[in-house]
Amino acid sequence: TTTRTYNWVVEEGLGAPDGVVKNMLVVNGIYPGPTIEANEGDRIIVNVTNKIANATTIHWHGLYQRGTNYYDGTEAITQCGIPPGQSMVYNYTVENWVGSTWWHAHSGTQYTDGITGALIVHGKNESVPPYDEDLVIQMSDLYHDFSPALLNLYFTPGGIDGTPGNEPVPDGGTINGVGQYGSTNTSFFNATLQPNKTYRLRLINSGSFVAIQFSVDSHILTVIEADGTAVNPFDVASVSIALAQRYSVLLHTNNTVGAYWIRAALDTTAYTYDNPGATTEIYGVLRYGVDDSVLPDVSLLDNPPSLPSGSPGELDTADLAPAAAGPAPDPTFHLYFEFSMQYPGVANYLSHFLGFINSTSWEPLNGTSSLFSHIANATTDGSANFDGSQLITTLNEVQVMQVAIDNLDDGDHPFHLHGHKFWVMGSGAGRYQNQTLQNTNPMMRDTLVLPAYTWTVLRFVADNPGFWAFHCHIQWHMAAEARIPVPQQPLAQTAVISMQVLLIATTLACATSTFAA
Ligand code: C2O
Repeated sequence: TTTRTYNWVVEEGLGAPDGVVKNMLVVNGIYPGPTIEANEGDRIIVNVTNKIANATTIHWHGLYQRGTNYYDGTEAITQCGIPPGQSMVYNYTVENWVGSTWWHAHSGTQYTDGITGALIVHGKNESVPPYDEDLVIQMSDLYHDFSPALLNLYFTPGGIDGTPGNEPVPDGGTINGVGQYGSTNTSFFNATLQPNKTYRLRLINSGSFVAIQFSVDSHILTVIEADGTAVNPFDVASVSIALAQRYSVLLHTNNTVGAYWIRAALDTTAYTYDNPGATTEIYGVLRYGVDDSVLPDVSLLDNPPSLPSGSPGELDTADLAPAAAGPAPDPTFHLYFEFSMQYPGVANYLSHFLGFINSTSWEPLNGTSSLFSHIANATTDGSANFDGSQLITTLNEVQVMQVAIDNLDDGDHPFHLHGHKFWVMGSGAGRYQNQTLQNTNPMMRDTLVLPAYTWTVLRFVADNPGFWAFHCHIQWHMAAEARIPVPQQPLAQTAVISMQVLLIATTLACATSTFAA
């Protein structure tokens, strides 16, 4: 194993990813930020110095952080934010996790403004076909306004466009930090590759709001990994990557030598109002066997070439199956909740459209409490409890959790569970009423869309003690929801999880220099 040490400075600055100058928050002056590339078992040490005006944290999306829950980087859950002007060292090993993921700020909506980057973990025994080279392709929707301003609008009584609860609609997007807005930018992300090789494209949706459909003109993609789970290889023409999800696809550079358009199409079906001038398809260039200045034919931009007849279509996630086949274990603990977005209708939150789990949202008590005072108030009798404002699930021993969720909202919500992967046992329209589950070789991942008005059943082994958030990854919802904390029991064989409800990170009473240790 190797120790990999990084020194990161989080700063404010101006950037123009798609040609339009905007305020950004970035690590080491670049967007996307530095890539962490490691081997399974390596130690990662990241010294983060905070030079922005607000506290910040860095989260390593998907990693298990077994035994180092306090380095999970979730502000208000596993740590206080790193105060402005101060530093914190994250120090953890990457154990039992191999594949493609990303890191991002986990404080307010900061990652929307640019604090994100790729995190790639190589493993000796990963069950994927051989390939020659890696290529990280990090895609994101993009807002020209600074996220705190957008969040304020989202939270105003009238909402951002006159309809309360409508999320800010992106102005465009980026592929590895480069986008195009109107005629303001004519540069593209460029990859000049070798002919007749197999590339593993590591696709990451590090956006704030919508899914992104990825394709490369005239090329079939073979899906081999999703969220760190090696899957049975499956050929597709395109992959829709939900917010915060990742896929690896193999691309063979064995077509006619030349230059081809990479396409990243934003899912505009989630847009709730018209944003005139917004760019909804972002382009990059992938070329091989030609000079690195060669561009594809621009007339193809609006007329993508079709694949030969009989070619596969877009990835259907129902076709994903882990390469290491097998059923999920039987559940030993059942949890049910309803997810909704509502007005809480109480003082201070009259105009806030908030996420709810059952009838509760978590909020700090009287503006003075932190997560830890919630824990002190929590009942811990081994079942789901409310301590007045939050849903608590505390497990005193390893359990196979089955979580059934009804999404009662009219929107799709990409939910992410920290510190674990879950099996996807079933989903369907309407409410959960003990429908039959699929348990022959269920997909296992860490981020899944709960479509509007549907039920979903997940299962996971709760064997990783700590405070683990489970939340919608839409940044506007992360700032309108909280994470429900659960105490770590001082016992061997203890597992705890947390369920998210509502986040109000700005009112926590964190001492300015204390961190969990
Ligand atoms: Cu990608 Cu709670 O995080």
